[in-house]
Amino acid sequence: MAEYKYLFTPIKLGPITLKNRIVCAGHTNGFVDPVTFLPNETTRCYYEERARGGASLIVLPLSSVDETADYYPLAAFALWTDDVIPGLRKVTDAIHKYDCKVIGGPGHSGVHSMCNVTLDDVSRDASQLPTVEQPHQISKELSKEEIVEIQDKFAAASVRLVKAGVDGIEVLFGHGKLVWNFASTITNKRTDEYGGSLENRCRFLMEVIDKIRQAIGRDIPFGIRLQAFAMEPGGITVDDAAEMARMFEATGQLDYIGLVQSTYRSIHIEGSPYYANFEPGWAGEYSRKIKAAVKLPVSVSSKINDPGLADRMIADGQCDYVYLCRAMIADPHFARKAMEGRDEDIRPCIYCNQGCNGRVVNRGMYNGLRCTVNPMAGEEARWGSWMFEKAPQRKKVLVVGAGPAGLQCAMTAAERGHDVVVYDRDNETGGQIRLIKRLPNQTMPQTFVDYLDRQLQKLGVKVNLGVELTNQNLDEVLAREKPDVAVIATGARPAKDGTAGALCEPIPGWERDNVYTYEDVILGKARLGNKILIVDDFSDRVSPGVAELLAGQGKKVEIITGRSCIMEPNLSAWFDAPFMLAKLDELGVKITPYTWIKQITERGATCFYTPSGREFDVEADNIIMVTTKYSNTELYDEFKQRGIECHLIGDAKAPRWILNATHDGYKLAREI
Ligand SMILES: Cc1cc2nc3c(=O)[nH]c(=O)nc-3n(C[C@H](O)[C@H](O)[C@H](O)COP(=O)(O)OP(=O)(O)OC[C@H]3O[C@@H](n4cnc5c(N)ncnc54)[C@H](O)[C@@H]3O)c2cc1C
Ligand SMILES: Cc1cc2nc3c(=O)[nH]c(=O)nc-3n(C[C@H](O)[C@H](O)[C@H](O)COP(=O)(O)O)c2cc1C
Ligand code: SF4
Repeated sequence: MAEYKYLFTPIKLGPITLKNRIVCAGHTNGFVDPVTFLPNETTRCYYEERARGGASLIVLPLSSVDETADYYPLAAFALWTDDVIPGLRKVTDAIHKYDCKVIGGPGHSGVHSMCNVTLDDVSRDASQLPTVEQPHQISKELSKEEIVEIQDKFAAASVRLVKAGVDGIEVLFGHGKLVWNFASTITNKRTDEYGGSLENRCRFLMEVIDKIRQAIGRDIPFGIRLQAFAMEPGGITVDDAAEMARMFEATGQLDYIGLVQSTYRSIHIEGSPYYANFEPGWAGEYSRKIKAAVKLPVSVSSKINDPGLADRMIADGQCDYVYLCRAMIADPHFARKAMEGRDEDIRPCIYCNQGCNGRVVNRGMYNGLRCTVNPMAGEEARWGSWMFEKAPQRKKVLVVGAGPAGLQCAMTAAERGHDVVVYDRDNETGGQIRLIKRLPNQTMPQTFVDYLDRQLQKLGVKVNLGVELTNQNLDEVLAREKPDVAVIATGARPAKDGTAGALCEPIPGWERDNVYTYEDVILGKARLGNKILIVDDFSDRVSPGVAELLAGQGKKVEIITGRSCIMEPNLSAWFDAPFMLAKLDELGVKITPYTWIKQITERGATCFYTPSGREFDVEADNIIMVTTKYSNTELYDEFKQRGIECHLIGDAKAPRWILNATHDGYKLAREI
């Protein structure tokens, strides 16, 4: 059993008591019917898993009170209609089975509502405002009649939530949603009683609080999730937030205050990716000030990924309980494992934002949240822990490749009772993650490899490193291992030939000695001059990482991309963009968009501007290709020829990301 002093003690939120201090924070996830916005089986199973994992409370994602503000990803369930009640009831019933409480989040996305989806409506907000996502979509300033209408909808939505079985209500007072936009001087330019002084700017929420409280009565806990500060020009300070917290506490209507750390203009701060190097629990210094200003229980989120840290934050007066979001996506059983003293078994979130924020921001509900390190996330309807079973027949499974695909497959196959052995030609596990961790500020993915290594050790899986399987030694290995099933997780190799998405053919001159792949550079195999030209077709962390590495050594680096920016479409949605661009700017790295190479020469490259074909020369000692990859499939054919059941997974199947590798590995292991 764990020996935490506070984490597993109960805490009262008004009329209810939470069994411990670990709360699953609200997060939109796409688990809702895309047409009706009603919760479905995916929703139920996703939350059931997190309740089963020992959290004391689950906060449901912000959900729209108003049909004209329904656009996902910024709002989830259709709280404007009674039709939402039966589906939500199934969700709350599933959560309650595990002595876990559930709080619902009525909200309104204001200018972020993106009403151009239907064209019938306009987005409405405190004032006429542009958004960050779509600057041409400017909101209509709410009239006083509309203010009353929306406030009444908050109350009606709260009643629906209570009818659906929630234990409490939380209004998000941050993230640039409508309620916050009334409070912020950046977004509220009104001259009536809802604009001007702090009291006037908070009037909208004050009235919402009164109406909700009247509608739900005193027996239901009611809290706000308050913006603790905003790291953006003109954004509020923590002292402003503390004053607001005191004002709201003085109403006597609230039972707790949760905190958030950004609006949509600064969402990269709250959702900070691993590259940004925000320390786990970094917002504790802000929450401490707000906690000191009020008597209500206060909670905070910010990369809290370790039960010990959570306990210390409570002990240290930074908060009374913790909100975990990404850590709870990565391991819904975080609380249970911590309680059982099994911290080392918690699947570590690597704060990559690829499966969670990235998928939600990029494609909304048509994509649905997944997780790089947790292949079950979003798949609970078919892979919920309650459905995990041992394999009917124990088999010998030979896994070739100890990258994330092979390691995940080996772990799950062993958990299902198979006899598993792993081989890798390298002397270290991790596959391409061994390269990622050599890039500046990119060591975090290695924590996932460390976790998988630990689990394989516990499961008694033998990992043979430094052994390359080839057609020469294969028969010998097969004679020794006698596998029933072979798993080919041999990954992929980078192309030196410059083949890329836009022009699916090699770049002329790619065979020259002055051309290298990113892998050559990271592994120190490239003999480089001083002027480097990186050719980027990935738009991920590779080019900025290699550029930072080389510019940090004093080299002059330029990155060209055929796209509008090296950050689109991936790094913007993963929230790395501002941090990486700032670093590259500091190091003097030149970024040239809409540009590709016509011919590599001895002195560099003849490039062309992709929209017009205009040619120009770029001088460079070396060209580094960050272009396509090719799967390593040779062994697959060898196994097949020998009549052995054989499966390709991860990059060996098709080069993609870690997310896909762990998914493939897990899926296969559940099917063997
Ligand atoms: C620099 C860099 C940055 C990246 N950044 C990201 C990122 O930010 N996010 C992301 O999601 N993905 C990223 N990726 C891609 C990601 O690492 C891969 O998609 C992922 O590692 C694929 O996993 P895998 O297990 O399928 O293959 P790999 O990781 O390639 O592992 C394959 C393993 O098989 C072994 N092997 C191959 N052939 C044999 C053989 N014949 N015998 C024995 N062993 C063999 C190899 O040694 C290797 O260890 C990055 C990759 C690189 C190189
Ligand atoms: C995919 C995703 C969606 C989110 N949606 C919401 C939301 O609907 N309401 C909310 O209050 N916070 C939302 N958040 C913010 C989280 O609750 C949390 O404050 C943030 O992720 C920082 O905590 P973490 O470092 O533990 O992830 C979301 C976060 C993620 C990753
Ligand atoms: S996708 Fe990445 S950031 Fe999101 S929860 Fe999973 S590991 Fe964490």
